[in-house]
Amino acid sequence: MVNLDALTYAGNAENLADVDADLGGKSYFFERADIRDREAVAAVFARHSPDAVVNFAAESHVDRSILGPADFVTTNVMGTFSLLEAAREAWKDRPSGEVLFHQVSTDEVYGSLGETGSFTEETAYDPRSPYSASKAGSDHLVMAYHHSYGLPVTLSNCSNNYGPWQFPEKLIPLMILNMLEGKALPVYGDGKNIRDWLHVEDHCSAIWTIMSQGEAGRRYNIGGDREMENIGLISSLIEIVAEETGRDAGAMRALITYVRDRPGHDRRYAMDCSRLKTELGWRREHSLDEGLRATVRWYLANADWCEHVRSGEYRHWLEKNYGRR
Ligand code: TYD
Repeated sequence: MVNLDALTYAGNAENLADVDADLGGKSYFFERADIRDREAVAAVFARHSPDAVVNFAAESHVDRSILGPADFVTTNVMGTFSLLEAAREAWKDRPSGEVLFHQVSTDEVYGSLGETGSFTEETAYDPRSPYSASKAGSDHLVMAYHHSYGLPVTLSNCSNNYGPWQFPEKLIPLMILNMLEGKALPVYGDGKNIRDWLHVEDHCSAIWTIMSQGEAGRRYNIGGDREMENIGLISSLIEIVAEETGRDAGAMRALITYVRDRPGHDRRYAMDCSRLKTELGWRREHSLDEGLRATVRWYLANADWCEHVRSGEYRHWLEKNYGRR
């Protein structure tokens, strides 16, 4: 297995130090490279001759995309393009059953839902943020490489992830760390936007199921069937943090601060993932209640990691995003 990572602000070599110690140089190889760099990507392909590519690489934070869209277009669109070109070149003589390009994408490409209904794989793309537009662009390129060049591809659109190792710009780890520090809990708008939450390990098991059993050229929705209003999710987290630490839940509730809404904030996402369940038999393993508690415990047990990732860049981001809300 080759891990190609540019290690930009949210990347951290420490996250895979155990894997590196056990398997490094044997069955695991780390390559520091930027997917925008076509020569570097081609060189990694030449060195390792991969049979499959899983494109997890992306700029993924919506608020950052609104404040600075350039990296989203270059990394998500052009970066995916260079991976596709490298795969097309490297696999031109390989039978399609032997190689696979899997594109990891998001429910956000489908746009925003009203109070009812859910996204299916037939829902037309309707991205609203620079982030989701850049992911939509890269997804279209992936499918175009399948139709135009016969590249074997699969694609998955997943709902909001949570779990260990998540960079604390995303809602759940940001809230946990702010609760532990007694800092304000910034809720955008009225707090009633709805997201569907899935544990990261369930996301990975779904991707593996699709890669090993899915049909080339087909997309699969992945979701947790667990919709929550943001304010309800934050309230659950407060209860869990109070139980796990003995802190006062009322004092943490007093930290909830309604702040100026995210521009163009998608109201609701919900996924119909019956294709993945009925065709490929996938089921999630983690319930949200158990998964959130395990996540809170992980952040409590990994205070050093939290301290390291909250570098100067992270503090700068907090000031830029929250300073003027
Ligand atoms: P986020 O974790 O950024 O994921 P996404 O935008 O991809 O859904 O945000 C999840 C939800 O939480 C979203 O509705 C925005 C909201 N949110 C807040 O209310 N406050 C915050 O500080 C953050 C980061 C997000």
